Amino acid sequence: MTVLDHNLDYDKPIKLADCVYWVGFNNPNERLHSNPYLIYDGTEAILIDGGSRPDFSTVMRKILQAGVQPNQISHLIYQHYDPDLCGSIPNLEQIINRPDLKLISKKENNPFIRHYSVRSKMLCIDRIGHQLTMQSGRVLRFFPTPYAHSAGSFITYDESSGILFSSDLFGGVSESSQWKLFIELDAACGPCTDPQPRSADEACLTIQAPCVWTGLHLFHQQIIPCNKSLRYALSVIEGIQPTMIAPQHGSILYRPEDIRYAIDRLRSMNDIGIDGIFCEAGV
Ligand SMILES: [Fe+2]
Ligand SMILES: [Fe+2]
Repeated sequence: MTVLDHNLDYDKPIKLADCVYWVGFNNPNERLHSNPYLIYDGTEAILIDGGSRPDFSTVMRKILQAGVQPNQISHLIYQHYDPDLCGSIPNLEQIINRPDLKLISKKENNPFIRHYSVRSKMLCIDRIGHQLTMQSGRVLRFFPTPYAHSAGSFITYDESSGILFSSDLFGGVSESSQWKLFIELDAACGPCTDPQPRSADEACLTIQAPCVWTGLHLFHQQIIPCNKSLRYALSVIEGIQPTMIAPQHGSILYRPEDIRYAIDRLRSMNDIGIDGIFCEAGV
């Protein structure tokens, strides 16, 4: 695994491991960053959760800066159908300009993704054996995480790097000026069981900084339908045992203890989605 440089220039693509790059947009006006990822192995490139239409020019510039020519992109992977990851499909298709470009998603997502005016062939992960082998031999494996948050949501594991692209899972909101691509939990935060501040901007009294769990909690509470779907997805992720978790929003987890603490913390949340409404109403 790459040794991480903490003086990162977010205006450039950031290398996560050999052949793997973050190509997102650190927009200082946004509390919710989107994180598209690029795998460039040999002469072939694959883009994961490519981003929104407003982010397209920045994402494309970073793909070029990573040394990839648009027509080297053979597949676009969309782990569900939201506009923050799918909005730029028409722009990407136009610039990639390959008749054999393929979109990989899942059958529950594809009828919705089609409405982004897709012209490429759409594949379903169930029909390709839940994996994609690149020309270099690199293998990407796909794991369904139903209702976390869409019926057809899935996550992608890169066997070569050990990186798990977790889509909205492990995403979080943060005060825009506080956002970092890589997160390292303060020693006090991992085992912390203190009540969280209710806002992502409110400082925790122990670390005198915004609470990382609050941003994570609020995001999962709002977008995941219920406790059960989140806990099922966490059990899938525990089975994979990734060395890095790269979400589509928020920050990347790369220290084993941080990954462990984050899984435990998410599992302990019992007010996710509709369960939170029932909790508050005392049902
Ligand atoms: Fe989403
Ligand atoms: Fe998202």
